[in-house]
Amino acid sequence: MATAGASQPIQSSPNVVFLNGKFVPAAEARVSVFDRAFTYGDGIFETLRVYGGKPFAWELHLARWNRAAEFLRLKCPVPENELLIAALRLIDEGGLKDCALRIQLSRGVGPRGFLSAGANAPVVVMSVHPAPKPKQSLRLITSSFGLPPLSHLKTCNRLVHVLARDEAAEKGADDAIFLNAQGMVAETTAANIFWLEGNTLCTPALSTGCLPGVTRQLLLELWGRSPKAELEGPLERLLASDGAFLSNSMIGVADVNEINGTAMPTSCTITDLQEAYILKTGSG
Ligand SMILES: Cc1ncc(COP(=O)(O)O)c(C=O)c1O
Repeated sequence: MATAGASQPIQSSPNVVFLNGKFVPAAEARVSVFDRAFTYGDGIFETLRVYGGKPFAWELHLARWNRAAEFLRLKCPVPENELLIAALRLIDEGGLKDCALRIQLSRGVGPRGFLSAGANAPVVVMSVHPAPKPKQSLRLITSSFGLPPLSHLKTCNRLVHVLARDEAAEKGADDAIFLNAQGMVAETTAANIFWLEGNTLCTPALSTGCLPGVTRQLLLELWGRSPKAELEGPLERLLASDGAFLSNSMIGVADVNEINGTAMPTSCTITDLQEAYILKTGSG
């Protein structure tokens, strides 16, 4: 018969979560129904990929998280070094060496209404989840929704992303491209986008409003001194390209094979970059 006790490892994820400094069985973890992340999406999050028990690019994700926290004037109740220790414990004892790690910070409960003054009890939650099995050949559509405001931050307010992803699924696509208010390609609901023009690697500039993706940054670094352009380009430019791919922490590099029903060319350059990224993550 199994015995419960202090020496028992915390159970396989997502059965245990880290909630404001404590490890709690997920079924017992409680957040108020008045929590502002629940009522307004008033919070931020990060999703990291864990390889071999280590959260990949932790510092880059935490730097983006800190920028978002500063923008929203949120203060994490747990210091950064303790978050990392807790994340490593969740991963180790949860028995998932290759997984997804989610960190969320909510403004917590405050007086009724939008005004955030008086909401002084932020809530941080970390959880680990089995790594998704990414599809490597993606069909995209252009979203009928434009790029939402604050897209340069990873806020908990993802309603437009949810609706755009549902719209894509209803049209038999895997993801949807957001164009910004100027009609320029920005990103998809959950990834940055790249394309090739000859041997030049192109991606929407951060000025389009896209999220400064950690994977995007690492890929631009991996590309080294080869020709590259961060630009503001219309959809036609992407459609006329020599191949396109998406990037995010979960999928790494994923080839795009169709946009709005038009087949996109395949490119061995994309496969090379995909392999270079896998090597970089140490998971190859
Ligand atoms: C809207 C959006 N753009 C881009 C990205 C890629 O970011 P990263 O490479 O940091 O995972 C994500 C990641 O989830 C995202 O949600």
